[in-house]
Amino acid sequence: ERLLSPSGPLAGKHVIVTSGPTHEPIDPVRYIANRSSGKQGHAIAKAAAEAGARVTLVSGPVTVPDPAGVTVVHVESAGEMLEAVEKALPADIGIFAAAVADWRVANAGGQKIKKKDGALPNLSLAENPDILATVSRRTENRPPFMVGFAAETENVIAHAQQKLAKKGCDLIVANDVSTATGVMGGDSNTVHLVTASDVETWPTLSKAEVAKKLVERLGAMTGDRKP
Ligand code: CTP
Ligand code: CA
Repeated sequence: ERLLSPSGPLAGKHVIVTSGPTHEPIDPVRYIANRSSGKQGHAIAKAAAEAGARVTLVSGPVTVPDPAGVTVVHVESAGEMLEAVEKALPADIGIFAAAVADWRVANAGGQKIKKKDGALPNLSLAENPDILATVSRRTENRPPFMVGFAAETENVIAHAQQKLAKKGCDLIVANDVSTATGVMGGDSNTVHLVTASDVETWPTLSKAEVAKKLVERLGAMTGDRKP
């Protein structure tokens, strides 16, 4: 139900948000993952719902609770995340904040891998599909406005500009995830909004404030047609 803000900046829009890490199985009890908490993506989903959007949140494994007023699809792996996103199309806006694992284990075991007198298991990796690029490059049902994130530890702006061009999205929200700044898992974020023509740096804000400001900005950038 959309009882929150029928006339908010995203009223009448369907927004798909991805959030959290993905887990890529090594065997039934082990996986590859990363330090993403899902806090920023979940805050965006919540803010979009409060701005009047119908929101589908496709979330990897996180400990943060499902935001109220949002349809949440829980997934584990990148492959499952892509499938869930495509199933949720069409949408007006895609905001892909998930820290998708770049690689999965190609030879994941069906049984728990056992130690063998010091002999190491041979894990071979395969590159995961790029969900943001796949959806941004669709010819059919491409959400008219696609937002990606860029997690960088150096040359943040330049890397974000390269990602914008490479993936074909309309906006990249870039942040510095070097461990010193504590973005991953933390409650605040310093972001740069990078488009093909512009770079805008926001002051350090709480993840909730970044979400609210981003949603307002998306309302302005995508035109606030009323339903
Ligand atoms: N992304 C995605 N699917 C992937 C990898 C990344 O959808 N398999 C998305 C992320 O959700 C984010 C954007 O792409 O919106 C950038 O993610 P990031 O990890 O910063 O970039 P990569 O292209 O994976 O490059 P690298 O990790 O090498 O910097
Ligand atoms: Ca990556």
